[in-house]
This record gives sequence, C-alpha cells and structure tokens, in this order.
Amino acid sequence: MALAAERLRTRLADSFPSAWRAIAARVPRHAFIPDTVWIEDGDGPVPIRRGDDPERWLDACYADRPLITQLDDGDDSGRGYITSSASKPSIVADMLQAAEVRPGMRVLEIGSGTGWNAALLAARTGPDRVTTIEVDPSLADHARRSLGAAGWRVAVVTGDGTRGHAPGAPFDRVLSTAAVQRVPSAWVEQTAAGGQILTPWGTTFHNGVLARLAVHGDGTASGRFTGNAAFMWIRGQRRPHAVVEEQVLPEHDYTEHRTDLHPYEPIGDFDARFAIGLRMPTGAGEVVVFDGDRPGDPNFTVYLMAPETGSWAEWRITPDSAGAYRVRQHGPRRLFDELCAAYQWWQRLGRPRRDRFGLTATTGGDQTVWIDDPAHPASETDRH
Ligand SMILES: C[S@@+](CC[C@H](N)C(=O)[O-])C[C@H]1O[C@@H](n2cnc3c(N)ncnc32)[C@H](O)[C@@H]1O
Repeated sequence: MALAAERLRTRLADSFPSAWRAIAARVPRHAFIPDTVWIEDGDGPVPIRRGDDPERWLDACYADRPLITQLDDGDDSGRGYITSSASKPSIVADMLQAAEVRPGMRVLEIGSGTGWNAALLAARTGPDRVTTIEVDPSLADHARRSLGAAGWRVAVVTGDGTRGHAPGAPFDRVLSTAAVQRVPSAWVEQTAAGGQILTPWGTTFHNGVLARLAVHGDGTASGRFTGNAAFMWIRGQRRPHAVVEEQVLPEHDYTEHRTDLHPYEPIGDFDARFAIGLRMPTGAGEVVVFDGDRPGDPNFTVYLMAPETGSWAEWRITPDSAGAYRVRQHGPRRLFDELCAAYQWWQRLGRPRRDRFGLTATTGGDQTVWIDDPAHPASETDRH
C-alpha cells in the first residue's frame, strides 16, 4: 500500500505546474481524503469505502477527478445533493498557479473541505501564514485533524467564509474554493492593496469561470474572468434546487409557440451561456434541467425554472420538429423570452469570449460586470 501510494503521489505531483510539483509531492492527497467518498457515475453518487476496497479508494484519491466528501450537508435522509468535495487535482493546480502564491504570503482560503488545498498552500507560504474557513463544523474538524496530523501549521476556522476572517487580515491572497454570485465585501476589505482575490464565480444560469481580481487599496477590486471550472455554490448564495416534477405541474396554464433556436446554441456554447447569465435578471433563480438527454436519445426537453416566482419554460426537442421546436412558458417571468433577448444581445456584441468580461467589486458590496474595461458595464450594477 505504501509503495502504491508513493507511486501514485509522484504521478499526481508530476502533473502539477513546475512551480508546484515539489510541493504536491510533499502533500499526499490520500492523507486528507475521508474513508468514504462518492464519485458521480451519471446516475448519482456511488460510494467508495476504504474499508471495503482499499486499493480502489487509493486509486480514487489520486485520479484526476473530484471526490464527493459530503452529501446534503451530512443529512442521511437528503436527496443526494453534493455539499462538499475534494476538488479535481488539475483544477486545484490551475487555481494555485493562477493565484501566484509566493513564500511568506498571508493567504485566506474559503472552503477547507478536506484540507488538502490548505496544506498545499502552507507548503508554499511557510508555517502560520494560511487561514482556512469551513462553514460545516464536521468538515472543519476533519480538515483540522488531517492538517495537524500531517504537521501543517494552518489555522482552521469554523464559520461563514463570506465574512472573511478579520482577525487575520490583511491577506495577500483570498482564494475561495466555493463559487459566488457576488464577491463578498469582506474579501475586498480584508485583502491588502496589491493583493489578489481568486474565486469561482457564476450566475443563476452559468457556473464555471474564475474571477481573478486585483485589490487596489481604494475600496475596489477588479479583474477579468478566466478558466473553466464549476464549483459548488458557497452556502448563503446557493440557489434553491428545482425539481421538474415539483415546479412544472399539470394544472399550470401556459403559452405556447415554436422556435428555430436549438438549445445547443445558447446553452451548449460556454461563452454564450456565460454571457446570457449576465443579462438574465438576477435574484430569481434560473435553473436549467435537461430531461431525457442521454447518449443516443434524440428526444429531450430543456426546462428553465425560476422557483422563487414559480415561472418555468419547457423547450421540447424532437427530430421531427427540427427548426420548429415547441416552447411553453408559465408564470410571471417569460424565461425563454429572457434567454432569447440575452442571447441576441451577446450576438450583437460579436459573440465575445468570456475572458473579455471582467468584474469590479467594492467594500460597499457593489458588483459590476463589464466588457473590455470597467468603463463599459455589461450588466446593471448589483447593489448591496
Ligand atoms: C469544493 S469544497 C472545498 C475543497 C477544499 N478546498 C479541499 O481542498 O478539499 C467547497 C467547500 O466550501 C465549503 N463552504 C461552502 N460555503 C461556505 C461558506 N459560506 N464558508 C466557508 N466554507 C463554505 C463547503 O462546505 C465545502 O467543504
């Protein structure tokens, strides 16, 4: 087992960017992974238990895939929603590289999870420079124990990371491993001038970019979007889970029309979907669900749902309706119409890639998304 772990650890470390390779080799991932984890197999989470199959568990610890470490906030009677995971190692490596962490820096990590990323950061910065915050007490305990057992001097705080950690401020880097829709003002306040905030960022319509913000020392932080990495939402900014059977009811009235727009164009295109998310009105929760979209299944339905208003749109795709797909809409928000308007806006702009967009966040809690430079807003300022 020890030899196998050594071999796997070396292989994983070799996949890291050169600046992080020696560090990854010093921080064995399996020392942070709980004895029971789950992997996604398409039909839901499948458990892997170290006690049942130690080799499979060890292989999973070093595979380039996320490992689910908690479901439903630890509630065994839940629906199986993922609430914590050990992020995919290549994404961890990308984020560490993007954060430009150097020895001696003070780093605040949001979302301790297993503690592995905090250990990597500590191996880079040196002892007592990293603080990590975890909202879930049992996960925080796990991270604290694992970091302590491996000898990494990291402060693990149990609490809400959207508040940052004022006693440890100012930080040179704030690095979140949970996605936000609004950059918390505390992160801007608690980062030193010249420092950086790196966080997964998304909208109710799209989750999958990183915001890399330079902190200016005048109460603002700004920078472009980059990357392709979907993280779980930070607690406090989670969207309600929408289940088609609960939202789309037989007794609902609806309007119906046909469209030649195939979902592949606005939803299948990463940049289009990102941009559409910037324009869909915020605060009402759009959720996209594909139903019946399996390999080889030519029939499928896309649902857009805004659970807070009860609105939904159903977009039915069948081969015999090519070019005239059926759309039904219910409720005060016309979600399909909103999507089309946002898609047309993006097309009129010349279909810009996501990295032409950026974000400015302030200590007052305002957030503005812009295109090309902060003088050209791409969405209304989202006021605190
Ligand atoms: C993708 S996991 C983090 C992975 C972790 N960095 C690692 O190395 O294993 C995201 C974590 O963020 C935590 N989280 C969610 N909301 C939070 C909040 N408001 N404050 C602190 N942690 C939060 C979740 O409980 C979860 O453990």
